[in-house]
Amino acid sequence: MSDKKAHLEIDGIEGKIELPVYSGTLGPDVVDVRGLTAKGLFTYDPGFVSTAACESSITFIGGAKGILLHRGYPIEQLAEQSDHLETCYLLLFGELPNKAEKEAFISKVNAQRTVDNSIASLVKSFDRGAHPMSILCSATAALAGLYHKSLDITNNEHRVEAAINLIAKMPTLTAMCYRHSQGMDFITPNDDLDYAANFLYMMSGKTPSKTAAHAMDVVFLLHADHEQNASTSTVRLSGSSGTNPYAAIAAGIATLWGPSHGGANEAVLNMLNEIGDVSRIDEYVAKAKDKSDPFRLMGFGHRVYKNFDPRSRVMKKCCDEVLAELGNNNDPLLAMAKKLEVIALEDSYFVEKKLYPNVDFYSGILLKSLGIPVELFTCIFATGRTPGWISHWHEMLSEPYKIGRPRQLYKGAVKRDFVKLEDR
Ligand code: ACO
Repeated sequence: MSDKKAHLEIDGIEGKIELPVYSGTLGPDVVDVRGLTAKGLFTYDPGFVSTAACESSITFIGGAKGILLHRGYPIEQLAEQSDHLETCYLLLFGELPNKAEKEAFISKVNAQRTVDNSIASLVKSFDRGAHPMSILCSATAALAGLYHKSLDITNNEHRVEAAINLIAKMPTLTAMCYRHSQGMDFITPNDDLDYAANFLYMMSGKTPSKTAAHAMDVVFLLHADHEQNASTSTVRLSGSSGTNPYAAIAAGIATLWGPSHGGANEAVLNMLNEIGDVSRIDEYVAKAKDKSDPFRLMGFGHRVYKNFDPRSRVMKKCCDEVLAELGNNNDPLLAMAKKLEVIALEDSYFVEKKLYPNVDFYSGILLKSLGIPVELFTCIFATGRTPGWISHWHEMLSEPYKIGRPRQLYKGAVKRDFVKLEDR
């Protein structure tokens, strides 16, 4: 499988350990370290900074150059020429659909948009002030209860059905989370509207403008997949135990919630509100640079991109279009965001550390201009990311796979005898 080899010399171990090196179609070569366990060694890589945990053909990120490809297609071209459901099809099946395949896929998704009454009751049982991500996570896990007995995860058709069902239901669930928080009745899907327009309709009860519907579609599309990020890796890891896919996606949603991941778009808006005025930006930039202060500029930096995130450029353009249509170009938050962007792109701290605005920096502003409340931002991200999560799960189960089981560098106590309570 590999002509290239790596040779490792370790103090105390005689000779060199030979390890195979594999090349992907793009990206860095990988050293296969599996043979090290036979030598009594593990590798150590907290945060998986330099570990490829799987083989995948779905998405490629060229972080240094700011490249994002889905099945080889650049994200900019997909955002410009495709739409979210077509991109879902591409991620799931590996190729762009022809006209008939696309229509069939859309009608299958549309047929699955409504959720069972039991899920509606579950959503209603939550406190109105509950964070929508906690409701979305629970409602998605609850879908496992409805689709478990009939689901055989070793069956390709069953996996595809689960994927379509999840892609279809996630906007409905997100809209329900929102309407519940507002004390409003749920709105059933509108068969005349496409995926993104229907989502906005289920949220507000109004048919959105073409610009708003298109912007929403682009937001979903730009979030559709991002290879082995924390939430996708969680879906793969939990899925590797053979669990129900709805439960695995719920685990992905839980992971996405955090401010270092999907919660960042919400954190960006909260940060801008906290800054409050353009005159205070310098103060916050100084805080972000101060190592004794835990504050970070939300929406800046990325584990993989050490260049402009290509999704940010598309998101920024879309944001400008929506704000121009709505006549909101004077929005004070936007003015702050624009000033912050300029400062951070010129400041030596951000330049040297290659901290560019990420997709969350602009998505927060765009979603706000679409009238979406801040607490719902991460649910929107989850809705957009669902095709990516489920495509990775499907890809993993389509090939031989092992249960994920990381090892550790143990630093705890060595063996010792139990001390009775009275002797402690
Ligand atoms: N503001 C200020 N300094 C930062 C920021 C930031 N946003 N991000 C990174 N740094 C600094 C760190 O302090 C560190 O400095 P040091 O080398 O002097 O110690 C250096 O840049 C590298 O940062 P790490 O935390 O090691 O980078 P990592 O790859 O682990 O983290 C992350 C990436 C979590 C995205 C980080 O940049 C961050 O916290 N950003 C803000 C939150 C955010 O926007 N998250 C969204 C990520 S994208 C997504 O999920 C869609």
